[in-house]
Amino acid sequence: MSHNTETLLVFGATGQQGGSVANALLSAGWQVRALVRDRASPKAASLAEAGIELVEGDFDDADAIRSAMAGVHGVFSVQPSSGQGALYNVSDEDEVRYGKATADAAVEAGVQHLVYSSASGVGEQPIGLPHFDTKARIEAHIRSLPVTATIVRPVGFMDMLVMPGFGLDIGHFLSFAEPKQSVQLLAVEDIGRFVAAIFADRPRFGGTVLEIASDSIIAGDIATYFTEAAGRTITYSRFPDEVLASNPFLAKLVERMTDGTLAGNADMEVLRAINPDMRTFRSWLAGSGRDAFRKALGSASAWDYTQA
Ligand SMILES: NC(=O)c1ccc[n+]([C@@H]2O[C@H](COP(=O)([O-])OP(=O)(O)OC[C@H]3O[C@@H](n4cnc5c(N)ncnc54)[C@H](OP(=O)(O)O)[C@@H]3O)[C@@H](O)[C@H]2O)c1
Repeated sequence: MSHNTETLLVFGATGQQGGSVANALLSAGWQVRALVRDRASPKAASLAEAGIELVEGDFDDADAIRSAMAGVHGVFSVQPSSGQGALYNVSDEDEVRYGKATADAAVEAGVQHLVYSSASGVGEQPIGLPHFDTKARIEAHIRSLPVTATIVRPVGFMDMLVMPGFGLDIGHFLSFAEPKQSVQLLAVEDIGRFVAAIFADRPRFGGTVLEIASDSIIAGDIATYFTEAAGRTITYSRFPDEVLASNPFLAKLVERMTDGTLAGNADMEVLRAINPDMRTFRSWLAGSGRDAFRKALGSASAWDYTQA
């Protein structure tokens, strides 16, 4: 289906989610515009090369956002969070302000379809993790507005598992879930495919919440997948208690994983019908995850456990 005459505005297009979305929307035939902080950055330049129109500005620049939204059919909204630590130095109040202001601007601009990226685990009640509870507040604000909106709730990214610092270099991978726990994972490249399907069918997806994932696996089986892909043995365990005792943030994430809140609750059959090409963890590891995995195998650097 081609949407050649209509434009969609993507936030965070130089990042993981927005990048995946911008790419998928271009492939689906939409005109794509992106709000970027620095049009001279290599990532912004490659967006422009791909045919994406750039508007320079940031989340606190109401004028830039207003001009970026002029005449657009839809908006993909995602914000950085405090969970990303020093990368952006965003406070929880910043995230909420950015998310609400983006939605307000979409209403003001008469946007037909707002797609907001929240997170799996977000619901009516706070869960005690600040960068999830921020998203509950943004979701509630969006629901109060006169705009057709779809909320996507991504589960944890596969891409996070191959960041350096989880022990891949020493053959002992550590993560959030107990080995026997069933967990859902999302390939960042699939986010764009889901969001493109949502923008293509506003009557179906408008006013809905869709939890998105690519695969559902037993956490301990990650050892098998990693061993197969690395060609050498990699074991799996949950972060040890002594690590959790010294890191309350990580301990809370593990607690919420163990009680199921963060394990993912997406309907895989529904998602497969929407995106028949969605990745399995194994196919992702052999494909777009391969380079990061290889790099992590050879990297001894420690992960900053605040960046979740
Ligand atoms: N990791 C996971 O498993 C997971 C799962 C579910 C949800 N989430 C949520 O995903 C969100 C992060 O998304 P992501 O992974 O796509 O982030 P990302 O890759 O770090 O990209 C962040 C994007 O936001 C832009 N940005 C940062 N500060 C900005 C500002 N002040 N104004 C305008 N743009 C700004 C960045 O632009 P520059 O290029 O200019 O820096 C970049 O394009 C967080 O809210 C996180 O909680 C993560």
